[in-house]
Amino acid sequence: MELSVVIPTFNEAPNVAELVTRIEKAVAGTDAEILFVDDSTDDTPDVVTQVATEHEIPVRLLHRDVAVGGLSGAVIAGLRQATGEWAVVMDGDLQHRPETIPSVLAQGRATEADVVVASRHVDGGSSDGLSGGIRRAVSQLSIKVTKALFPSRLHGTTDPMSGFFGVRRDSVKLDGLHPRGFKILLEILARQPLEIREVPLVFDARLAGTSKADMKQGIALGRQLFDLKFGRISGFAAIGALGAVANLVILWGLQQFGVGYLAAACIAAVVTIIGNFLLQERFIFNDLKAGARGVWKRWWHTFAFNGTESAIRTFALWVIVENTNLHSVLVQAGLIVIGFSLRFLYQSRVVYKQHEPVVTIDDIVEGEPTETAPAATTPAAV
Ligand code: GDD
Ligand code: MN
Repeated sequence: MELSVVIPTFNEAPNVAELVTRIEKAVAGTDAEILFVDDSTDDTPDVVTQVATEHEIPVRLLHRDVAVGGLSGAVIAGLRQATGEWAVVMDGDLQHRPETIPSVLAQGRATEADVVVASRHVDGGSSDGLSGGIRRAVSQLSIKVTKALFPSRLHGTTDPMSGFFGVRRDSVKLDGLHPRGFKILLEILARQPLEIREVPLVFDARLAGTSKADMKQGIALGRQLFDLKFGRISGFAAIGALGAVANLVILWGLQQFGVGYLAAACIAAVVTIIGNFLLQERFIFNDLKAGARGVWKRWWHTFAFNGTESAIRTFALWVIVENTNLHSVLVQAGLIVIGFSLRFLYQSRVVYKQHEPVVTIDDIVEGEPTETAPAATTPAAV
């Protein structure tokens, strides 16, 4: 297969037929497939299934029961299922012209490119279809800020926020990405050095339906930038430091009320473990919650690990201080750093470990409406 066209869809039923018709025409002569990655709550999957029977080009539908990672998660799921040497990702609402696909592919093939971005901000491109001046201004500003944060990785692109791009599947690593929100291209480009080329993109108005972008996507972008720049571990460290201060304040405060220091230390430990857990759930691992084990399991694992860690750490402190000339504060500082690293590893590898998202894959591989088509569309049991 030369080309897989990957299309994330969320309630795009009225756009599917025209989209497939135009793609089929645009890529005629290329060995290509269309792969819909759908999280819809409307009848989009039925429409895709129906439309697939009316076309020669193979149309596959990957319907996810759990929309892990939203639009970005859908794109990654699609790239994993894609079989083409090149995969072109585009929106399903016809804001991205199917007629641009061949120039993305041609640019990729003619050059050393790993990624070809269809950009609104090169000669011949435009973002007139982006509804409203405010949205356009926000888009421009976020591109400037983002490029300033990752000057070398994003050097080759004028539009890291584009949702229309091609990837040479062999060259782009998908493991290690943290898909969330809308900006999957940014995620791909920022995490690995890639050769980028661009072609102009005329961003049209939506054919039908409504945009799913909202304030939440803006906040998600902010988080994504922070995470890409500083990594999860620095936020985790900040919360850990806050917890350490809270621990000391509680230890001191309770003693003012006549509580013994050991009892106060235990209470302080429990309170800070709870506080850290709540903060990390909200700010550090928020995007991983949906794909991880349940909240109570996460809590008990955290509590057991952190409790054990602080018990062992205190014991180690005692052993080392008693048997060496090292100062207790120095020893404790070293132990805290080790304990912190272990806690971070445990949290990210175990507590928030992602299980495979539940997906149903319908394989639709026929052109003309034939008897074989319905049999082929029976959803795979999950
Ligand atoms: N599978 C899936 N799951 N698809 C989704 C989801 C989701 O949770 N949310 C949105 N989509 C699909 C939509 O159905 C559409 O095909 C495409 O993703 C883009 O969503 P829109 O709601 O149309 O977004 P937009 O037009 O506001 O944003 C577009 O422009 C941005 C640049 O300004 C997208 O192309 C963005 O990727 C792009 O960053
Ligand atoms: Mn759109």
